[in-house]
Amino acid sequence: MSSKLIAPSILAADFANLQRDIEMVNQSEADWFHIDIMDGVFVPNISFGMPVLKAITNYAKKTIDVHLMIVDPDRYIKTFAELGSNILTVHYEACTHLHRTLQAIKAEGMKAGVALNPHTNINVLEDTINDIDLVCVMSVNPGFGGQSFIENTYTKVKQLKELILKKGASTLIEIDGGVTSVNAKKLIDTGADVLVAGSFVFKSNNPLETIKELKMIANS
Ligand code: DX5
Ligand code: ZN
Repeated sequence: MSSKLIAPSILAADFANLQRDIEMVNQSEADWFHIDIMDGVFVPNISFGMPVLKAITNYAKKTIDVHLMIVDPDRYIKTFAELGSNILTVHYEACTHLHRTLQAIKAEGMKAGVALNPHTNINVLEDTINDIDLVCVMSVNPGFGGQSFIENTYTKVKQLKELILKKGASTLIEIDGGVTSVNAKKLIDTGADVLVAGSFVFKSNNPLETIKELKMIANS
């Protein structure tokens, strides 16, 4: 069984000590940096934009997993590639021509991800799953860190895993929102490959140890 991945969400980092927090993730057992870009239109919050992402990628030594919570993401695909994104995830709900968007992401040399809001059924991906490198199952409504995990996520992960197996796809399943040591094991057992964790990591007393704990739980 391949290793299950941990992706700390930088949204919960201390932005006044961003370099310190990036170095912490570099030295940790984390696999990816999860970077949340919010535009205040698709979601009711604005996070940070290109200059901050550039500062992060200057120091980050692991895979850069960018989660775009923005309308009309096609406008910025090239820019995010230039800024050093390795995986670019767009929201299903924000794409009129999802298939075209996925091809455009890959044409820039990035892996293509699709995020689904909690209300969006897995079956909308029936016809594109073989073109998707990663599905980000939102386990909270996107826009803010620190929210409670939505229990229906397990059902969605199970359905998504079945779809991936049925279609013979090699898509990774990522879970984003409210991930803790309490739900991590069940999520992995249900089919998840990547766990995003923001508050649980950065608001803990020892983020390095918390990442280690999640990595251990996910691979136990
Ligand atoms: C929410 C973001 C998440 C968020 C997760 O819109 O997509 O990545 O940072 O934060 P926690 O782990 O605190 O729920
Ligand atoms: Zn996210």
